[in-house]
Amino acid sequence: MNHGLSLIYLALLSSFISIVFTKDALYEPVSKHGQLSVSGNQLVNENGEAVQLKGMSLAWSIWWPQFYNEPTVDGIKNGCHSNVVRAPLAIETNDGGYLTDPEGQKKLIVDVIEAAIKHDLYVIVDWHEEKAETHQAQAIQFFDEISKTYGSYPNIIYETFNEPTSQSWSTTLKPYHEAVIKAIRANDPDNLIIVGTPTWSQSVDQAAADPITDQTNIMYSLHFYAGTHKQWLRDTAQSALDSGIGIFVTEYGTVNADATAPIDLEESKLWWEWLDKNNLSYVNYDVTDKDEGASVLIPGTTAENVCKEEYLTEAGKLAVEQNKK
Ligand SMILES: *[C@@H]1O[C@H](CO)[C@@H](O)[C@H](O)[C@H]1NC(C)=O
Repeated sequence: MNHGLSLIYLALLSSFISIVFTKDALYEPVSKHGQLSVSGNQLVNENGEAVQLKGMSLAWSIWWPQFYNEPTVDGIKNGCHSNVVRAPLAIETNDGGYLTDPEGQKKLIVDVIEAAIKHDLYVIVDWHEEKAETHQAQAIQFFDEISKTYGSYPNIIYETFNEPTSQSWSTTLKPYHEAVIKAIRANDPDNLIIVGTPTWSQSVDQAAADPITDQTNIMYSLHFYAGTHKQWLRDTAQSALDSGIGIFVTEYGTVNADATAPIDLEESKLWWEWLDKNNLSYVNYDVTDKDEGASVLIPGTTAENVCKEEYLTEAGKLAVEQNKK
């Protein structure tokens, strides 16, 4: 055989092998996995096989509207090798949010949902605040509208409450989630719903001790930042998994919990290893061009350049490498 040709065959073979035997999220889109559901503590695809979503989260819609659009979603998929994008609806900030501008803020989320459907990604619709139980009526109205319009698409994932703080799981958070779940299920019987857990979505053990029992396709959110959260949080999460609840990491960072540098590479590797071992899904925070450790884009990046190699920060490059594995 011609030596040059055999090298080409070899190159083709190795890229074939890497597509078949790695879990590059780019090659694991909605058209491959379809309707998700929860079986035991595992997220499974429409054939009942374990599936892992890996992707990127946008940041607060009120502050980062320039990334709530189709070019960004396209970049997150193809440049950042993702099969999921998260859209955090800012509810209440000093600069406003959904409570003061419901139509404007909802439009941003809808633009991301439509782009995700078009580009074959799963999309997490996130009610992003720390006091959602005080806005239950608004949350119900919002999720009712979204689930009515988009609930028939397998792409949609609901996240009912980003990060509770010190609220009681059993007496405050669980009843809130159940009320919102009920509104969603009236329109959408099956798409995944992820519920926030106490202590900025770390205390999955509290949810595991008193889980939501009369619903299907529910998972519990776990957030971690490798510079701050270590083996103790993996131990907590492992025991929650062992008790049978499903966990979904809707936010993580390789840096500190306040989004500042430095990257803790050693701890990040321990987290990724643990996540992959348990088939857990994870979403890196955040797609911004802020001059800050957690940002995946360098300052000045526009939507058209999201996730292009030369626009990624160190944190961004690490998350993308992980999405390819
Ligand atoms: C992860 O998924 C695979 C199937 O793809 C399964 O064999 C394995 O048991 C799962 N791991 C855990 C920890 O459940």
